[in-house]
Amino acid sequence: NADVRSFFGRPIIIGGGIAGLMTALHLAPEPVLLVSRTPLGLDASSTWAQGGLAASLGDDDNPALHLADTLVAGDGLCDAEMASRILHAAPGAIETLEGFGVRFDRTPEGSLRLGLEAAHGRRRIVHAGGDGSGREVMRALAAAVRSTPSIVVVEGVEARRLAVSENAVQGVWASCSMGPVFFGSRRVVLATGGIGGLFFDTTNPLSSCGQGLALAARAGAVLADMEFIQFHPTALDGPDRPMQLISEAVRGEGATVVDETGRRFLDGLQGAELAPRDVVARAIWEHLSKGHRVYLDARDKAGPTFARRFPTIASACRDAGIDPAYDLIPIRPAQHYHMGGVAVDGSGRTSVTGLWACGEVASTGLHGANRLASNSLTEAVVCARCVAESLAGTPVLRTKLATANDFPAPDPRTVRPLLSRALGIVRDSEGLKATARALLPLAEGKDAASDPAAVGLMIAIAALSREESRGAHYRADFPHRAAVARRFELTLVDALAAA
Ligand code: SIN
Repeated sequence: NADVRSFFGRPIIIGGGIAGLMTALHLAPEPVLLVSRTPLGLDASSTWAQGGLAASLGDDDNPALHLADTLVAGDGLCDAEMASRILHAAPGAIETLEGFGVRFDRTPEGSLRLGLEAAHGRRRIVHAGGDGSGREVMRALAAAVRSTPSIVVVEGVEARRLAVSENAVQGVWASCSMGPVFFGSRRVVLATGGIGGLFFDTTNPLSSCGQGLALAARAGAVLADMEFIQFHPTALDGPDRPMQLISEAVRGEGATVVDETGRRFLDGLQGAELAPRDVVARAIWEHLSKGHRVYLDARDKAGPTFARRFPTIASACRDAGIDPAYDLIPIRPAQHYHMGGVAVDGSGRTSVTGLWACGEVASTGLHGANRLASNSLTEAVVCARCVAESLAGTPVLRTKLATANDFPAPDPRTVRPLLSRALGIVRDSEGLKATARALLPLAEGKDAASDPAAVGLMIAIAALSREESRGAHYRADFPHRAAVARRFELTLVDALAAA
């Protein structure tokens, strides 16, 4: 429409989750086009976030303590300087969100209610609506975006390829109900979220299948830390896919993990139920592999107050015939978050000129080998400001005109069984090699499986190269941690050559 044409050459943000919305809001009043596959927030992982945002706001807390916990969870692979910058800005990010109308949960005295999650040494998780933090943040930000005249939101449009010439972005080929379209722009931000849809067991919307990674990879961008995939220890073990997350905050309130005999089998771990996420997920996975059933027991601690504190979880449990105040909750680990992504610098710039990335699709180095709970929404909010500042300082350049070009819609169904088998909680060389071999022809093809396969191949090659166990990456054939921590970066060309 006329509005959209007048935005020709303006920055384009791909993705309507928290990272995309915040970038657009920070850019205002500079005109920007925000392209979203669905009506804002409908299938964004951000909307489903339960845990909230981590920020050192308590009297007993400070950014250095938050940083120390982040570095321990990251298992030697965080970029400490980047992490420090982001975590020092975290308290300000909460204020920014409140400025946009987000209503966080408060104590009767009026101060922010701070929750505890695994591997945090202090109560520092700010949440909203008990376990509806993402929903509330998205409600407020979507309203702010819709009332900002400089932001044009185009819904129902899916980005399929980046047009790149001499390693510089020229625009975005996309698809909508009317057919293929081309948006010319020399400034594009990827804010497309994660990869859960590439796995059978995931807590993400199934539509999150690494589209931003595929866009960047096909444009020649460098990707980093691809092998690090976080499995959340406690997803509701039932027939529904995606799986319902049972927030770590439930364990933060004292719920325990038990097996069918009632035994608390995690109590040998340092931190027990609140040990780092990768440690808890692996221990539960091993117990399940031995034929046990695993449950979360929230009866004693949360009991009758459960539904008030965790309304979303209580309602999902109720739908499954479980009342957490009186019943054990059956659980199993599920894919939850991707630490890796498009390699970015402190301004969110990728290795392709004119291409930025923000949120889960980006790899800033904050999370290292294992993300500390609730650091991701904080990262998205903080980094969106850096991306917007960097974008705003880049001049509007003429872009080459291109005709609309059709590309198939990505379909991860062929790839899902391969990744679920070989790239789960425990990996080995045999499984990774077989998967890389199976993915190679798919990634080189041109059909609907090719983009998910290209992303899967990059993950498999990165996982094969890491011959050690660190954070969320566990190799049965290399169970020990290497003495020196190294981050791996690769391009799609590298992965195709290595397969
Ligand atoms: C949770 O609530 O357990 C998830 C929080 C997160 O993934 O950061």
